[in-house]
This record gives sequence, structure tokens and C-alpha cells, in this order.
Amino acid sequence: MNNLLVVLIAYLIGSISFAVIVSRAMGLSDPRSYGSGNPGATNVLRSGNKRAAILTLLGDAFKGWLPVWIVVHYGAAWGLDARAVALSALAAFVGHLWPVFFRFRGGKGVATAAGILLAIDPLLGLATLLSWLVVAFVFRYSSLAALVAAIFAPLFYVFMFGPDVIALAITAMSVLLIARHRKNIANLFAGRESRIGASKRG
Ligand code: G3P
Repeated sequence: MNNLLVVLIAYLIGSISFAVIVSRAMGLSDPRSYGSGNPGATNVLRSGNKRAAILTLLGDAFKGWLPVWIVVHYGAAWGLDARAVALSALAAFVGHLWPVFFRFRGGKGVATAAGILLAIDPLLGLATLLSWLVVAFVFRYSSLAALVAAIFAPLFYVFMFGPDVIALAITAMSVLLIARHRKNIANLFAGRESRIGASKRG
């Protein structure tokens, strides 16, 4: 097993868009056609189907978790080091953002990043999830919670493990995630962002 193969497999797994697959399987509209147009759990929730949103969340988190967890736990036996962990994380995340199976039109990476962080270290994942939950609970904006969590994730990692190649990958993921939320950021500033659980819009 080499790093290139790790990147390829993680990217392909990350390219599975659970928002689209779950919606299709449950007979719902394509999430890219309503609300924010984002193929992600928050937007699927706007369909009014909580089960579909939860399945999307779990699926997107799982596809981030799986390749990274495998590398973290079995990588050493295959001669892989921390670089492979960083690469698998970044590749799965990039797969979600630019999925080869969905014409490279993917989501914003929040659930996938959560799965990746949990695989890198459960405590890191839980601390980041907690920062998401606190902001989501107080302000009821999924996007704002994701943006705050994205800022905290690399800081938590460096605080726990010090700066290394994995910290670099998490920082890159956070930068991409924030860039993907530029519309949400504009909406937040304009007071137009929809709150968690609001139904379909625009
Ligand atoms: O999970 C993505 C979330 O942060 C924002 O989603 O649909 O409101 O743009 P959305």
C-alpha cells in the first residue's frame, strides 16, 4: 500500500454523496434543487424529512471516518506513516467537495470533516463536535456552528498533538470548508441565513 493508493481510495469513498443517494432512495427531491442547493444533511432537513437528514449526516460522516480510521489503525502495518493519515483525510474531504461520481458538484464538508476528525482522534472529534453543538444550540445556524468548529478543529489538534502534517491537513480542510461557506457567511452578515430546521427556501 502506498500513499497514492490511499489518496485514490479515500477520494473515491469521499465522492459518495449520501445526500443525493438517500434522497433518491427515499423518493425525495434532489437536495441540489431546493433550499441552499447544498447536498448535505442541513439542506436535506429542509425537505422536512428528519430521517433522511440523519441518514445523510451519518453516511457523510462515515465515509470520512472509514478510510482515515483504517489508515490510523492499520497504516503502520502497511508501512504508512502520519503523512498517509493526513492524505487520506484530505482526499476523503476533497472527494465530498468535488465528487467524481456527481460531476464534481459536492457539499460543504461538515459531516465528512466530523467523521475524519473522530477517526484521527475520538477526543479531537468530540471536542470539535461540542463546539459545533454549543454554537448550533445558542444561535441555531448550522453554517455558523460549522464555521466556528472549523476554526477550533486545527487549534484543538495542535493543542493536543502539536503541529505536524496532520495539523496541516486539518487546517487545509478548515480553509476549504470556510471557503465553501462564503454564501452562508454573506447571508449571515445580511441576516438572511436560514436557521436549523427552517423549511425549503429559494
Ligand atoms: O452542513 C452545511 C451547513 O454548514 C450549511 O448548509 O444548506 O445551510 O448551506 P446550508
